[in-house]
Amino acid sequence: MRSWPADRIAFGGDYNPEQWPRATWREDIELMRRARVSFVTLGVFSWSWLEPAKGEYDFGWLDEVMDLLHEAGIAVDLATATATPPPWLSAAYPEILPVDRDGHTLWPGSRQAWCPSSPVYREHALALTTALAERYHEHPALAMWHVSNEYACHNLPCYCDTCAAAFRRWLRARYDGLEALNDAWGTAFWSQRYTDWDQVLPPRRTTTFANPTHQLDYARFGSDTLLDFYRAEKAVLTERSPGVPVTTNFMTLAHFDLLDYHQWAPEQDVVSTDHYVVNTLEHPAAELAFSGDLTRGLAAGQPWMLMEHSTSAVNWQPVNPAKAPGQTLRDSLAHVARGADTVGYFQWRQSRAGSEKFHSALVPHAGPDSARFREVCRLGEVLERLGELRGSTVEADVAILWDYQAGWAASGPAMPSSALEYPAVAHTVHRLLRDRGVVADVVHPSADLTAYRVVVVPTLYLVTDEHAAAIEAAAEAGAQVLVTFFSGISDEHDHVRLGGYPGAFRDLLGVRVEEFFPLMPGETVTLGSGSGRLWSEDLTAAGAEVLDRYAAGPLRGRPCTTRRAVGRGAAWYLSTLPDDATFDALLGQVLDAGGVTPAAEVVPGVEAVRRRSGHGSWLFLANHTDQPQSVTASGHDLVTDRPVDGVRLEPGAVAVVREG
Ligand code: GAL
Ligand code: ZN
Repeated sequence: MRSWPADRIAFGGDYNPEQWPRATWREDIELMRRARVSFVTLGVFSWSWLEPAKGEYDFGWLDEVMDLLHEAGIAVDLATATATPPPWLSAAYPEILPVDRDGHTLWPGSRQAWCPSSPVYREHALALTTALAERYHEHPALAMWHVSNEYACHNLPCYCDTCAAAFRRWLRARYDGLEALNDAWGTAFWSQRYTDWDQVLPPRRTTTFANPTHQLDYARFGSDTLLDFYRAEKAVLTERSPGVPVTTNFMTLAHFDLLDYHQWAPEQDVVSTDHYVVNTLEHPAAELAFSGDLTRGLAAGQPWMLMEHSTSAVNWQPVNPAKAPGQTLRDSLAHVARGADTVGYFQWRQSRAGSEKFHSALVPHAGPDSARFREVCRLGEVLERLGELRGSTVEADVAILWDYQAGWAASGPAMPSSALEYPAVAHTVHRLLRDRGVVADVVHPSADLTAYRVVVVPTLYLVTDEHAAAIEAAAEAGAQVLVTFFSGISDEHDHVRLGGYPGAFRDLLGVRVEEFFPLMPGETVTLGSGSGRLWSEDLTAAGAEVLDRYAAGPLRGRPCTTRRAVGRGAAWYLSTLPDDATFDALLGQVLDAGGVTPAAEVVPGVEAVRRRSGHGSWLFLANHTDQPQSVTASGHDLVTDRPVDGVRLEPGAVAVVREG
């Protein structure tokens, strides 16, 4: 066993040598050295090669690869290979196959075709994990264990009978009897009252809207079930391979919300995640930054690992654009800016066959004599220089609250507006802050909020009493708390808090809402300054100062934005989604009130983030505009390896300035 590369930002990616002849392995190692790769993730999809028949292991090839990597000084993040079963397993035990909402079996032939509740699958997976841990614990290349891969990516939710039984067990543990479940699920509605546990099913395809709390509990059950699976694999590793850190790669990227990572994160020895740029988003670079800040929040502010991203195109979007020259470096450093100390890719060598043959890699189809591989080598060089900032943390005075469970509830059936997507407001706030050079931690409501100058609570639809109290306490203690519409509406069972919205925050904010007035797609409402879209509501301010009002439509003259002094801080409320300029002006007021300053004075489109440690501080700058930009900063730029006094950034360029 060896330790994780500590002298540099670790650099590497998924390595799938079983797709290549032995001669290529030698070339791989040679090229890895050239690119200064310091780690690989090995064996993610290797089960059918490691265990070609039940209980018969073939470790010879893996021994060879591990030895080669060790000789080259490359650390191995060894997968438990349990992400995808071999065909013999699904053929012998077809009951492990997942079932979709309509009752259709998802057949083998792709990947991750296993039911999260299947005891048969778990037994076989744990046997393989045990065999790998025993064989490789002593291997000098082993530096980390990589459990499974992207849990839930394709096999959650599963609606099979095994899951139905497991769900009932989970519910019995959660609720003190069937009547408690009936209360929590509100089954007085539509004659849904259960009189026997066996009547309870997964939320399979229904005639019309399903019970929202039933669905919410099924989402919780799914996340818990896979977390339990992860814990079981981890327990094997901790016992048989003590001292080697264990992680599993999260997916903190746009549109993925199947697991409550705030419950998963404390079980990781180091938090790791995957991120891919989604080209159909309106602001892909802003989403990348949000993902980094969310991952850092999961890691409780500590450095984290970017396990996978791509050097260029992916293969799973409708159109898969290549990255422009310079973007590979810029995207990678954007993750490092936000706290990544490891930069990994999917994958080392672009496949010749299979459904990912058109997904980019560190070594493209064109081979090492290519612009892409040259950029990869340059990245390797830069990441080596960045070694000095390893372990440093990111400076942030603002918290944006994020709760997967609130998101699940907010996207339940039959809501006031299906145009309101849970991430929308959080992403907008984060993007506008980023345009000002202000960095935010994206954290769970249970995080310690006391150190933040500003706390933003975007569409926190479902909130527990405890979390609502913590938010209030943050304002009392001095934070500027900005709550947006559709927050604090329901409790943990998704029962509406009565007496006027937003029930959980009415007193804190000094406002009361009697009715929502969601806006039609494309509709806007005129405000005193600017306009709002998506949402409006009839707000009464009782004890809060009115900052802006609706200026037209049915709510004409009613308050739209308010502020109330609370303890040593204040509570602000925003009841619509304003246009960017209006929203930005409000954020400016909130930041000023909190005394928040940017990492650097920048124009929108220039990203600025600062990492700091006991040894110094490093200012990350990236120019996302199409014009050259100048930023006042001086020190030594680790990207160009030159001293700087005033930074000039060409379009697309990035700098990491060691300050002082
Ligand atoms: C991830 C996965 C990798 C690869 C990659 C392609 O979801 O973990 O194995 O498929 O996506 O973008
Ligand atoms: Zn199942």
